[in-house]
Amino acid sequence: MTKFISILSGKGGVGKTTTATNLGYALTKLGRDVIVLDANFTTPNLNLHLGAVNLPTTFHDVVQGKTDITNAIYQHKSGIKVIPASMSLKHLKELDFKAARDALSKLKGLTDIVIVDGAAGLGDESVIMLEAADEVLIIANPEITSVSGAVRTVKVANEMKKVVLGVVLTRVRGDKLEMKDADIEKVLELPIIAKIPYHKEVKQSIIRKHPATYIYPENKASKEYFNLAQKLLGAKFNSDIEPNIFYGFLRKIGIRIERGRQAP
Ligand SMILES: Nc1ncnc2c1ncn2[C@@H]1O[C@H](COP(=O)(O)OP(=O)(O)OP(=O)(O)O)[C@@H](O)[C@H]1O
Ligand SMILES: [Mg+2]
Repeated sequence: MTKFISILSGKGGVGKTTTATNLGYALTKLGRDVIVLDANFTTPNLNLHLGAVNLPTTFHDVVQGKTDITNAIYQHKSGIKVIPASMSLKHLKELDFKAARDALSKLKGLTDIVIVDGAAGLGDESVIMLEAADEVLIIANPEITSVSGAVRTVKVANEMKKVVLGVVLTRVRGDKLEMKDADIEKVLELPIIAKIPYHKEVKQSIIRKHPATYIYPENKASKEYFNLAQKLLGAKFNSDIEPNIFYGFLRKIGIRIERGRQAP
């Protein structure tokens, strides 16, 4: 069984991609085979977080029927697997959303968990990613604009009868200007399932192109991402797939390698 976890928000820039990569690595470290898919077609930035620009094959190539999805899977040094989105504006304009839906379904059976790094708001791309989701995580910062922006996303997810696991608060500083947990839970009618503190090493990790959980596992933000991963696994996870066995090709970021062989 492959589980799709969609990461969505109301407002942009709240920490979705940071959560996708850090949770992705934490789940990998806990023994799951994980693919992080960049489904933020409007402002794709997963590859920037992981230092992998200009990858030759993207999700868009799969959507356009040019290649099999296994050829768009890359392995980051940390062990997480990623599928990049195209950075090209032309590709965004041409994107066929029905074909995107079909391409997503090709990931079923290939891995344990697909973490879908979504776009902000509720454009077509978010709705498709919601459709595909088995579970949804809502990312917000503890401030009114971010929380109120997420209300509609939660509402649409509920209308689509999706399992919304809860809110992940990120960049939490714990000062008096922030919204209180109880108020956030009341506005969103959801439990807060993780509070990721603001930590400069999270920013540093992006500059270094690695998830913080990989290079700074001991800091408080990373520990909270590991706690979140454990919580998600506790929520009844099935893993009956051997990692990697289905990939025709697995490429290190920027380097094509044959399965089972080390990149030079
Ligand atoms: N826990 C944290 N501590 C410090 N900075 C953080 C933390 N989480 C995220 N950030 C910073 O917040 C910024 C936005 O993060 P990110 O790119 O993950 O947001 P996003 O929701 O994916 O944005 P977009 O909607 O544009 O895709 C980044 O500069 C990142 O470094
Ligand atoms: Mg992002």
